[in-house]
Amino acid sequence: MCGIVGFIGNEQAAPILLEGLSRLEYRGYDSAGVAICDGGAGTLSVRKAKGRLQVLSDLIHGGADLPGTVGVGHTRWATHGAPSDVNSHPQVSENGRVAVVHNGIIENYAELRSFLESKGVSFVSQTDTEVIAQLIEYFYTGDLLSAVDQALHRMEGAYALGIVCADAPDQIIAVRKDNPLILGWGKGCNFIASDVTAILKHTRDVSYMNDGDLAVLTREGIQCYDHLLRPIEKEVVHVDWEVDAAEKGGYEHFMFKEIMEQPEALRRCLSPRIKDGEIVFEGLSLTPDYLRSLRRIFIVACGSSYHVGVVGKYHLEKLTRIPVEVALGSEFRYMDPIVDDKTLVIVLSQSGETLDTMAALREAKRLGAHVLSIVNVVGSSIARDSDEVLYTWAGPEIAVATTKAYTTQLALLALLAVWFGKTLGTVDEADYQAALAGFRELPEKMEQVLSCRDGIQYFASKYFNHSSIFFIGRNLDYALGLEGSLKLKEISYIHSEAYASGELKHGTISLIEEGTLVMALGTCDRLFQKTVSNVVEVKARGADVLALTTERHQEEMAHNANGVMTIPDICDLLLPSLGVVPLQLFAYYVALMRGCDIDKPRNLAKSVTVE
Ligand code: F6R
Repeated sequence: MCGIVGFIGNEQAAPILLEGLSRLEYRGYDSAGVAICDGGAGTLSVRKAKGRLQVLSDLIHGGADLPGTVGVGHTRWATHGAPSDVNSHPQVSENGRVAVVHNGIIENYAELRSFLESKGVSFVSQTDTEVIAQLIEYFYTGDLLSAVDQALHRMEGAYALGIVCADAPDQIIAVRKDNPLILGWGKGCNFIASDVTAILKHTRDVSYMNDGDLAVLTREGIQCYDHLLRPIEKEVVHVDWEVDAAEKGGYEHFMFKEIMEQPEALRRCLSPRIKDGEIVFEGLSLTPDYLRSLRRIFIVACGSSYHVGVVGKYHLEKLTRIPVEVALGSEFRYMDPIVDDKTLVIVLSQSGETLDTMAALREAKRLGAHVLSIVNVVGSSIARDSDEVLYTWAGPEIAVATTKAYTTQLALLALLAVWFGKTLGTVDEADYQAALAGFRELPEKMEQVLSCRDGIQYFASKYFNHSSIFFIGRNLDYALGLEGSLKLKEISYIHSEAYASGELKHGTISLIEEGTLVMALGTCDRLFQKTVSNVVEVKARGADVLALTTERHQEEMAHNANGVMTIPDICDLLLPSLGVVPLQLFAYYVALMRGCDIDKPRNLAKSVTVE
C-alpha cells in the first residue's frame, strides 16, 4: 500500500525518483508525486497528479522539468481522501516548507487536525498525511530532526515517512513504524524506499529500519537513531536479487512471466532443502521433543497465503495428527485464540509486510506461542519479528496477483509437514520417500502443465464472457478452488465463488441455471467419483462444466464435463501445486481477453499495510 522512494546525491533527483516509483507502482497506483529540493535556488518544488505514474511523468517531462538533487516520491493507494491531485503525496505544510510522503494511516489525524486548526493552520486535502507535514512545520524552529521527533510523539498509527524541508535542502529524514522502509547506501548518494526493487539499479547495500527508527540521509552517509533519538548503528546487508528479476524480460505482463517462472522458483526453494534423500531445514531450531510437546498448530495469513494455509491444514493434520487451525490474519487477534507455549504459529506472507498478519504474529508471541514464518521478501518485518523464518526464494514478485510466491509457499509448507511427520514418526519411510520423489519431479511436471497452455487459452476464449463462475471441489480440491476463484475475480472482475462440493446442495445450487459455468476440480483420486457425481448434478441443472483432473481420470471426466484441463499424476501432497497452474493461466487468459489491466487490477495493491 503506497510506495515511497527518496534520493539524495549529485545527480538530478526527479528522473531517479520516477524510475524508482515505476518499480513500486504495484503498491498503489491511483496517483503519484514528487517533492524536489533545489539547494542552489532555495526551492522545494512539488508536482503530483491523479492517475498512473505516467501521468506525472508526462507532466514533468520524465523529471527534466525539476532541477535539484534531493527529493522524495510517492505512488498512492488511497485511504484518507479519494484519489485526486490535491490528495496525492507529497503533502506539504501551509507555507510550502515541509513535504512528506507517507505509507500507512495516522489514526488520531482528526484530533491533530482540529488542534492545528485551532492554532490557525489551514488544510487543503482530506488526507491524514497533510496533518504530519503541518505538525512538523508547527514544531519547526530551525532543527528539522527535532521537529519531526516532536511530531512523532503526537502521532498514533502506522507510518513509513520520507520528509524533505526547503530550509534543510541537504538532507532527507526517514521514519518507520509498522510500515516498511529500507535505507540504501550508495557512493556519494543515498536512498530510502518501500522495497529494494526501487533502488536495485543504484545499490545493493541496504539497511532495514526497525519500528521507531529515524534516519537522516545526507550525500555522505546515513545516521540512524532509535525512538529516543539515540544514535544507532545499522547493519548493512548486501542484496543478491538480480535487476532482471524485477523486469518483464520480453513478457507482456509480469503475471505471465511469474507464472512461467514457477518451475525455476520451485527448484530454488526446494533443492537446497532436499539433500541425500533427506529433508534438511538448516537453521531451524524445532526439536523432536518440541514437536511432540505441541498441542496445536495455528496457521495465520491473508488472501492467497491464507489459501496456502487451508491446504497446509490438510497436510499437517494428515501427516502429524496434531490439530491445526487456519485463521485469517485480520480475524486472529479479535477471536481470542486459544494459543499458548504449546502452540506453534506458522505465519505465511509473500511480502512479509501484511499489517493484519503482522498484528496476528505479535498477538501470537504475546500469548507465548513460538512463531515460524514462511516469507518471500528477505528482511521483511514478518521475517524479522518471527522466532524463525523459512524463505521461499521465489524472487521478486511484481504482479499484484500472486503466483510463484503462492506455489513456493505451498511446496515449502508441504515439505515442512512431511518433515514434521518424519520427525514425529507419523510418516513412515516408504511414504517419506514417495513424498520426496514427488518434490523432485514437481518442477518438471509443472513445466509440462505450462507447455499445454494453448488448451487453457482455448477454454478462456470460450468462457471469458461469463459473468459468474463457481469453483467446486472436495478436500484439497476445495482449497485449490479458493485460490482459483480468487485469481479469477481479482484480475478479470468476474464474480466467482468457491464451494466445497458437498455444500452445493445446502443452498448454492439454487444459483445454477442454464449456461452457468462451474469449474469442477477433481484431482484427488480418492474423491474423484464424488466429484463426478457433483458434475452430473450441476449439469442436470444446465451448468456448463469445465473440469480439472489428473491424467488417470481424464477420459472418465471427459464423458461427464463439457471440457477438461489435465495435470500429470503426482502424489496427493503436491496435487494443489500442479493444479493451481491451469487455474492461474485460465484467470490470466480470461483477463487478457476482457482487456483488463492484469498486473495492476483495480482497487488492489500488492502489499496490504493497512488494517
Ligand atoms: C492475491 C494476493 C493477496 C495476498 C494477500 C497477502 O493474489 O496476492 O491475496 O496473498 O494480500 O499478502 P502476503 O502474502 O504478502 O501477506
